[in-house]
Amino acid sequence: MAPIELRQGIYWVGVVDWDIRDFHGLSTNAGSSYNSYLIVSDKIALVDAADPGGGASVLLRHIAEIVDPARIDYVISNHSEPDHSGALSEVMKVATGATLLASKDGVKRLGQMYHHDWNFREVGDGDELSLGKYSLTFFNAPLLHWPETMFTYCPEAKTLFSCDAFGSHIASTELFVDEVGTDRVLPHLRKYYAFLIASFRKAALAAMDKIKDLEIEMIGPSHGPVWRRDIDLLFDHYRSWANLEVKDKATIVYGTMWGATQTMVGAVADGLKAGGLESRAWNVKKTDASDIISDLLDSRLILMASPTFVSGIYPPVEAFIPYLRIPRDKTKKLAVFGSFGWSGGATRKLTEILRAEGYEVMDDALQQRFFPGEDEIRECYEFGRGAAEWAKGKESGSA
Ligand SMILES: Cc1cc2nc3c(=O)[nH]c(=O)nc-3n(C[C@H](O)[C@H](O)[C@H](O)COP(=O)(O)O)c2cc1C
Ligand SMILES: [Fe+2]
Ligand SMILES: [Fe+2]
Repeated sequence: MAPIELRQGIYWVGVVDWDIRDFHGLSTNAGSSYNSYLIVSDKIALVDAADPGGGASVLLRHIAEIVDPARIDYVISNHSEPDHSGALSEVMKVATGATLLASKDGVKRLGQMYHHDWNFREVGDGDELSLGKYSLTFFNAPLLHWPETMFTYCPEAKTLFSCDAFGSHIASTELFVDEVGTDRVLPHLRKYYAFLIASFRKAALAAMDKIKDLEIEMIGPSHGPVWRRDIDLLFDHYRSWANLEVKDKATIVYGTMWGATQTMVGAVADGLKAGGLESRAWNVKKTDASDIISDLLDSRLILMASPTFVSGIYPPVEAFIPYLRIPRDKTKKLAVFGSFGWSGGATRKLTEILRAEGYEVMDDALQQRFFPGEDEIRECYEFGRGAAEWAKGKESGSA
């Protein structure tokens, strides 16, 4: 995508990555982009220097279509993670007179990462930088997504450069969310939030509180499309997730070797529905964990289902447990079930581990021997219905 003018003199000059499919563990089936923004005023500023993977030449070419990169006066580093700083060395080599602005911690991190004696300037909360017609104000946004991260705000353009916050991993030939399609962007926004931001939900609420009085008409995140409409909708979604709001929904996370536990899943889901919870089921061997966790966010109940494997939990199901921790949400209710052959063990161990993690786990996990017959299917249905009622706070026989 060629540079695009967002506002008079403010350009997107980033790098679109159509190929990336794994972003430090997050599956990125729609690719991504590393957004940089060039602000051409009396002084020239570049916000973020994208791409660890050879994007520097694209970034510099995009800048050169607008101004000679040697003329850049200020480079703003909102976040020192390589996807936003990877091209800094190349940029600073060309922009020989540029000052590199970052938060106090950001200056330290960039030093540890790149070992260059650049002309650094620390900026703190509320500090302003005049560029002439435009100016920039900086706001620390710790933990969104690293401790040193900050937001950069241009009051004259009513535009917030929010770095990782409000991003989504989508490669596109269109720059704006309303062009890509809000309905297409929202699931990516949610997945991105679930994997990168949910762990820091209190930081997200604090950052949104900090910027609540700013006039914001446009949000340029560092990944994916730019928001120029529906900003209230964007904030509403973030607030709802960060406040741990749930729907009448359950997510079943399961593994299966021969299909017995999978058969149980179908009957349990029918019971959940009868008890008032819609559900979705995910086989951990078929779907990437990063796709599953976005469904956990607004689920009232999570069901973990595992067959017994060598007296314990089927390893692919056990491997999902660390992903449960990502949203740092111990208000969720959990229930456990699975199939076994002779002495069992998976449901007991799952219950023990999840309780030790601090989750409220329903008593009386359901375990059934080999493939369910008619009676067992009925039992699965009743288990699902009871679990839904328990999660919704109605009386149930099992809790
Ligand atoms: C590799 C393997 C190891 C197993 N280990 C145990 C075990 O230690 N204890 C037990 O009760 N059942 C064990 N089983 C039996 C399964 O738990 C049983 O077949 C169950 O119905 C499988 O459910 P699934 O079809 O959902 O995988 C094992 C089965 C396999 C294939
Ligand atoms: Fe990041
Ligand atoms: Fe990032």
